[in-house]
Formats: sequence, structure tokens, C-alpha cells
Amino acid sequence: MAQELNKHNAEKIQGPDAIPVQLTINGKAQAFQLEPRVTLLDALRNHSTQTGAKEVCDRATCGACTVLLDGVPVYACMLLAIEAQGREITTVEGLAPDGKLTKVQEEFIACDGLQCGYCTPGFVLTVSALLAKNPKPSETDVRKACSGNLCRCGSYPRVVEAALKAAGVATASKCEVLTNV
Ligand code: FES
Ligand code: FES
Repeated sequence: MAQELNKHNAEKIQGPDAIPVQLTINGKAQAFQLEPRVTLLDALRNHSTQTGAKEVCDRATCGACTVLLDGVPVYACMLLAIEAQGREITTVEGLAPDGKLTKVQEEFIACDGLQCGYCTPGFVLTVSALLAKNPKPSETDVRKACSGNLCRCGSYPRVVEAALKAAGVATASKCEVLTNV
């Protein structure tokens, strides 16, 4: 019995050496050789050309590494690449594959919803996922959806404004939004 259990456990172990990993990134299947310990964020940034997801905290506190997994925002730093196999991974590059920006991206630019821009890919993906699920969100909905994304430059009022404008929802002036932060 113990022998069988040991055999079963031994068969399930992968690594520590690199193993074949198949990821579907922005609609394209790609093959990698990765150690099983490699996070999805490191796979994207160090082994593919999709570097839109940013590494800031690397410990699930900032949201700079946000990507969509089957349309749902996740922290790519908290997921192993091998766990993302068989799922649709969308990075910010996948929103405008032909260079035509989405409404959300256009409004981030129009509303000046960024300063250094390091947090921006994460916010854009989070807002895009929100609008796909809830096309007419309230300001509160936007703030809740973005609660896992931090902006150290403090661009929140303009991010919220960009999200609401992208949804075609009337917004308060920037000054009024600012007083609600
Ligand atoms: S880098 Fe992943 S949450 Fe900060
Ligand atoms: S624009 Fe700089 S961290 Fe958000």
C-alpha cells in the first residue's frame, strides 16, 4: 500500500528542471520550457514578448501584474505558469492587437488617468473586465472593482473618471470626484 502511494506521489512530481508548458496568450498558443516554480508573471515578462504586466510587489498587494484569466482579473505574480495552462490569458497587449485602442484605453488617455503609468496596464485590464460584466457601473462599482489595484502616483480620480466615461456614464467634474477619494 505504502509502495503504491509512493509510486503515485512520485509520478505527480514535476521539476525542478524545466518542463514543457503550453500557454494561450492573447489568443495565441505558445510553447515554453519552464521550471514549475516560474510564476505566470515571470513567464510573461522573461520568456515572452508580452511585458505589459508589471512586477512591483511580487506578493499580491499592488495589482501591477494584473492579467485576465478567462476574462477574470488575477495577480500574475501569484499564479504559477503551469497553473495557467488551458486558460485564456489576456495581457494589456491583447486589448489592441492591431493597434486600435479600446474605448477604455482611449478614455485613460483622454482623462489623463496616469502619471508614471506603471500601474496602468493593471487598471486598464481591471476596468475592461468590469465593463464586460457590468456595462453601466456606478462610481462605487468602479472603486470596488479597482480596489486590488494600487496607484502610488494617486491617479485614482482620473482612473474612475476614465472608467465611467468609457461606460458612457455621466461623471462629476474632476474636482468633485477628488473630494470623494
Ligand atoms: S506585482 Fe503582483 S500584485 Fe504586485
Ligand atoms: S500612475 Fe504611477 S503608480 Fe499609478
